Amino acid sequence: MARWFNVAGPCRPDDNYMLSATARLPEVMRLISQKLYFVIHAPRQTGKTTAMLTLAQELTRSGKYVAVMLSVEVGAPFPDDPDTAELAILDAWRSAAAIWLPPALQPPPWPESSSGRRIGAALNAWAQVAPRPLVVFLDEIDALQNETLLSVLRQLRDGYPSRPQGFPWSLGLVGLRDVRDYKMASGGSDRLRSSSPFNIKTRSLTMRNFHAEEVASLYGQHTADTGQVFASEAAQHAFDLTQGQPWLVNALAKVAVEELTDDPTIPITVELIDQAKEVLIQRQDTHLDSLAERLREPRVRAIIEPILAGSLPASLPPDDLLFVQDLGLVRAGRSGQLQIANPIYEEIIPLNLTMTTRAFLPTVAPIWLQPDGRLNPARLLDAFLSFWRQHGEPLFRSAPYHEIAPHLVLMAFLHRVVNGGGTIEREYAIGTERMDLCLRYGDVTIGMELKVWRAGRPDPLPDGLAQLDTYLNGLGLDTGWLIIFDRRPDLPPVAERTSSETARSPAGRHITVVRG
Ligand SMILES: Nc1ncnc2c1ncn2[C@@H]1O[C@H](COP(=O)(O)OP(=O)(O)OP(=O)(O)O)[C@@H](O)[C@H]1O
Ligand SMILES: [Mg+2]
Repeated sequence: MARWFNVAGPCRPDDNYMLSATARLPEVMRLISQKLYFVIHAPRQTGKTTAMLTLAQELTRSGKYVAVMLSVEVGAPFPDDPDTAELAILDAWRSAAAIWLPPALQPPPWPESSSGRRIGAALNAWAQVAPRPLVVFLDEIDALQNETLLSVLRQLRDGYPSRPQGFPWSLGLVGLRDVRDYKMASGGSDRLRSSSPFNIKTRSLTMRNFHAEEVASLYGQHTADTGQVFASEAAQHAFDLTQGQPWLVNALAKVAVEELTDDPTIPITVELIDQAKEVLIQRQDTHLDSLAERLREPRVRAIIEPILAGSLPASLPPDDLLFVQDLGLVRAGRSGQLQIANPIYEEIIPLNLTMTTRAFLPTVAPIWLQPDGRLNPARLLDAFLSFWRQHGEPLFRSAPYHEIAPHLVLMAFLHRVVNGGGTIEREYAIGTERMDLCLRYGDVTIGMELKVWRAGRPDPLPDGLAQLDTYLNGLGLDTGWLIIFDRRPDLPPVAERTSSETARSPAGRHITVVRG
């Protein structure tokens, strides 16, 4: 039977290529056998639902438990109306149980109970009549907020002491965030008498991304089914681009084997994976879209902006940092420094942040293109300077991140320049006070470094020239551009101060220095 790479919700073993879902959560079995309550938290699209649905089915099939994955998501629209939320949730639970459990293991009719008690009462009634220990996983717990979240957690805590006869034997909350945050999501600690409304949990587990070997093994399933091979570097390349993020791993392969090739005798190469990456980035599928939406949240911006600028963040509440990590947008690199979670997000983020600017960018005549279609760097510089003088400053307002508004406007301009015929690669490094960009168009490659001159600081020119040497060295280039955005107060307008000159780098390169 034909199977395929899945990018639409939880995986189904009959339909999809997939890695063992339960092997991804080795410790959970022990927690369950020890009658414990726990939290599973991991970023969006990591495979939480897939793993817990599968585990519930395996547990039920083992004959030892009645295990089911239920969701509280339908309560989300009623953050301040726990009464309505409860009824919606219980209604959804009944339908879910009908699908996932055999007739003999169905829950009893939910008992009559007063509002704010119905969920606890339902679990109580079910645990009493269940023929085997009841194990419940509650998905999408962080879809709930405020009073409703608080009410649900309180009911769980209230019922906990009566387990296993009068409450589930084991219970897992599944969501994006660890439970410490439910305290905040439910309106702050002052409204709670205890430190955490779910202090009955004993463990928080998280799910990691796939390792490189797992990516290769997942892709190998497609090869086994269809004969279409992945060239040996292709799976590694997919891993490098995604860092094993499960949805991205599937999405790259799906585009490559379904859209870019339809002939299984064609092997999937590194080039095809790269093309698939471009397709995903341009298409901004829902998963990428929902992450990108978060970029405007103040606590997300407080971390992403300095990463892009290469600056250091202002002091941040540690919770905000964890939040952005939990979302899956950033990760700690090998030496502990913060970076964007993977190269695909690295491209999606600036694309999203320059969306408005790109939409409002005035028409610019492509005077940098020669009659033979090649890009002329000198003419590109002229075009940029006149664009910057005329439109630079007014466009700053279209950029969602004020601190790096000039960077974003420049990127929007460069995006117009490459316009499908070339690429822009970016390198970010927090704390290095710079952003590096590499523009490739046909056989022309331009390495650029962006620096900011801030109030009370010296001219970044000497530092910039030295850093640019390192960057150009890596790219194997003899020349490059150093762009210095002067953001000191009380300067003449951008239109008047934009200029260019040439300078020598410490390694002797001729560098074009642009000031704007
Ligand atoms: N075991 C697996 N093997 C291969 N791919 C998987 C596996 N589990 C998940 N995926 C990939 O991850 C995607 C998301 O899976 P799932 O819906 O289970 O994640 P989730 O963490 O519950 O997501 P959300 O946070 O949106 O609820 C799937 O569409 C699939 O691409
Ligand atoms: Mg899910």
